[in-house]
Amino acid sequence: MRSVILSLLLLMTVPVALAGEREAAVAMPDRFSAEVAGAILQNGGNAVDAAIAAQFVLAVTLPEAGNIGGGGFMLIHKDGKQDFLDYREMAPAAAHRDMYLDKDGEVIPDLSVYGILASGIPGTVQGMWQAHHRHGSMPWAELVQPAVDLAAKGFAVPEPLARYATSYARHVGGKHPSVNFGRYFGELEAGKVFRQPELAQTLKGIRDDGADGFYRGETAKIIARFMRENRGLITEKDLAAYQAKWREPIVTNWRDMQLVSAAPPSSGGIAVAQWLKMYDLARPPEEPPVHNSVAYLHLLAEVGKRVFADRAEYLGDPDFYDVPVARLISDQYVERRSGEINLAAISDTPSVKPGLTESEETTHFSIVDQWGNAVSNTTTINLGFGSGVVVEGAGFLLNDEMDDFSAKPGVANAFGALGGVANEVQPGKRMLSSMTPSILLQDGQVRMVSGSPGGTTIITSVYQSILNLVEFGMDAQQIVDTPRFHHQLWPKDTIRYQAGLDSSVVKGLQGMGYRMQENGFGDLQVIVRRNGELEAASQSTGRGASRVIAFAPLAVQ
Ligand code: GLY
Repeated sequence: MRSVILSLLLLMTVPVALAGEREAAVAMPDRFSAEVAGAILQNGGNAVDAAIAAQFVLAVTLPEAGNIGGGGFMLIHKDGKQDFLDYREMAPAAAHRDMYLDKDGEVIPDLSVYGILASGIPGTVQGMWQAHHRHGSMPWAELVQPAVDLAAKGFAVPEPLARYATSYARHVGGKHPSVNFGRYFGELEAGKVFRQPELAQTLKGIRDDGADGFYRGETAKIIARFMRENRGLITEKDLAAYQAKWREPIVTNWRDMQLVSAAPPSSGGIAVAQWLKMYDLARPPEEPPVHNSVAYLHLLAEVGKRVFADRAEYLGDPDFYDVPVARLISDQYVERRSGEINLAAISDTPSVKPGLTESEETTHFSIVDQWGNAVSNTTTINLGFGSGVVVEGAGFLLNDEMDDFSAKPGVANAFGALGGVANEVQPGKRMLSSMTPSILLQDGQVRMVSGSPGGTTIITSVYQSILNLVEFGMDAQQIVDTPRFHHQLWPKDTIRYQAGLDSSVVKGLQGMGYRMQENGFGDLQVIVRRNGELEAASQSTGRGASRVIAFAPLAVQ
């Protein structure tokens, strides 16, 4: 008789496990979430269990992006099937198209970015509840408890968080009467224990009552009262009506692999699919361009022009706007589009039209469990620390996601992205996103889990992480640390790039007519399978922590 003994071995913090062993891995944006997610996996939880626990921990320890006051997307590969959960924020019922315009029809600066009117209805708690209902294996309360403990007992503040919060408090003070960030986070000190009793209370409600602990009852009343007192729009009815939605992920073949990625209301999956496919069609067939050379950056900037022209015109919430997903990623369309690429010079920006007919913050984590299931989860309150508004009595930061709508056609949002009718504000609508949690499958097995923060540069970070693995054979740490670059049609002929890009390449591109702008990029978190083994890596410049967990081989008796 055969019986299987599952014994868990030590948690390894080196990125390679011995061949033949079963492995799991996490790549997380901070060490608290890495510890909790790693322990859940080690104790027999699956990737979704670890993701839920990590999401709540990040709401406590990474307040600039981790959240219960925001939203996100979770991409799941489980038991050989893919599932995509949209827990994006939604415009409240009282929102309307012109809510950010003055009486002359001009956009009121900052109104969609700071203060009480910047927030959509949060989706995170519903998202985690739905994910647990469909895919979780451990009791809900056990997954929320680590976050309750960290909020109630406190944690030692990492130096980068203390620095960021202090400077943000100075920056945001006085932006809008409702901004109260400084009172909650203005005095953080590196190394000092920071407790959040109001947040702990809110998390206890979620632990005990699930999604109802946030969207109904005491917390919902606190949110609605706070909104009324500060002339905000979100009501108890809005909260009770919020639903996270299961959607079909974007799935497309690329080379001998399958790219699985975020569907609308994210623009990310469509954009990455277009970017990879056009790259293949436009690159010299004999051999790839040299990595991060002038020719490589120019080719991918040319693709980016087309990708972002389509994004501005065709993409929005699919419940409100008929997004032509299949046409945008079809081989015929992408082939025609790639034919417009000029490898010798910069295409004239205004003439690049949509093709069919016509500190930035967010955070990401990647998880693979011992059974080969994977979660790729990107979550956000939009810009760092969201709207700068903490719900008093509930202790959490509200998002400023309304800025991801197009306030007015032709006027760029905080990420420089343009939009039109497809992404205008409407009650109950979800704002277009660039969040791109992605999984690359080969022969049905996870080859890569990737994702990043960074507004519109999320898309760039993800497709470049894929090329860095597949085209250039990099290991996980090289993938996240190699300099990235971004072009999105507007501002005209501008390439943003990460420090470390060769200065001769910068000069070469300037010589072609590009404006070169050094910029920070998102904190990539990747897990890859190379030579049959998992590797996990977090960008060296960030607060991230990653690890591979080795389990004993299955013992056969
Ligand atoms: N808030 C950034 C995004 O969703 O694209």
